Amino acid sequence: MDMLIKLYPPAAFATAVPSGPGGAVVRKPIGPEHGALARWVGESFGASWASEVQVALANRPVSVWIATRDTTLLGFACFDATGRGLFGPIGVADAARGRGLGAALLRACLLDMRSAGYAYAIAGGVGAPAFFRRVAAAVEIPDSSPGLYANQLVP
Ligand SMILES: CC(C)(COP(=O)(O)OP(=O)(O)OC[C@H]1O[C@@H](n2cnc3c(N)ncnc32)[C@H](O)[C@@H]1OP(=O)(O)O)[C@@H](O)C(=O)NCCC(=O)NCCS
Repeated sequence: MDMLIKLYPPAAFATAVPSGPGGAVVRKPIGPEHGALARWVGESFGASWASEVQVALANRPVSVWIATRDTTLLGFACFDATGRGLFGPIGVADAARGRGLGAALLRACLLDMRSAGYAYAIAGGVGAPAFFRRVAAAVEIPDSSPGLYANQLVP
């Protein structure tokens, strides 16, 4: 199932600052971190998401945000990775969930997408619809499953 997110006012995230709670920082990865990020995503969330994060890392500017505390990676979120205008994947480490990091990462991407000129974002293949409804007022797109992902090659 895909979900549509408005990127124009009065979107709830319009004035949100892309920073994380509890000492975590939400930022873009720099070049020397790309390998470590793709590896972490693969180990934590599987090969498909690692493939998508590699696409986001190949975009200029990179279309992936990460949450870190000191030198520890806590989460990531991408857009323009699965396809243009699509948000996702997003993942937060098990131990770091429920503290607002996922919301901060999603908002950082949505602000970035709005700055890039998109009017809407589409959260693709959503596995946690309540999260997207809650943070970004996302609405379900009818007949969108399996949508773009039909017959996806298994990594
Ligand atoms: C979904 C995910 C990214 C959320 O990250 P998180 O850091 O735990 O989320 P936050 O703490 O920022 O939560 C923000 C809000 O969404 C709600 N929320 C978070 N995950 C939720 C879920 N799975 N279902 C329903 N509500 C959820 C929280 O309760 C919170 O609500 P509040 O504002 O009332 O407190 C994280 O659970 C995750 O990595 N899951 C596994 C990967 C995944 O499913 N990714 C999404 C694929 S579409």
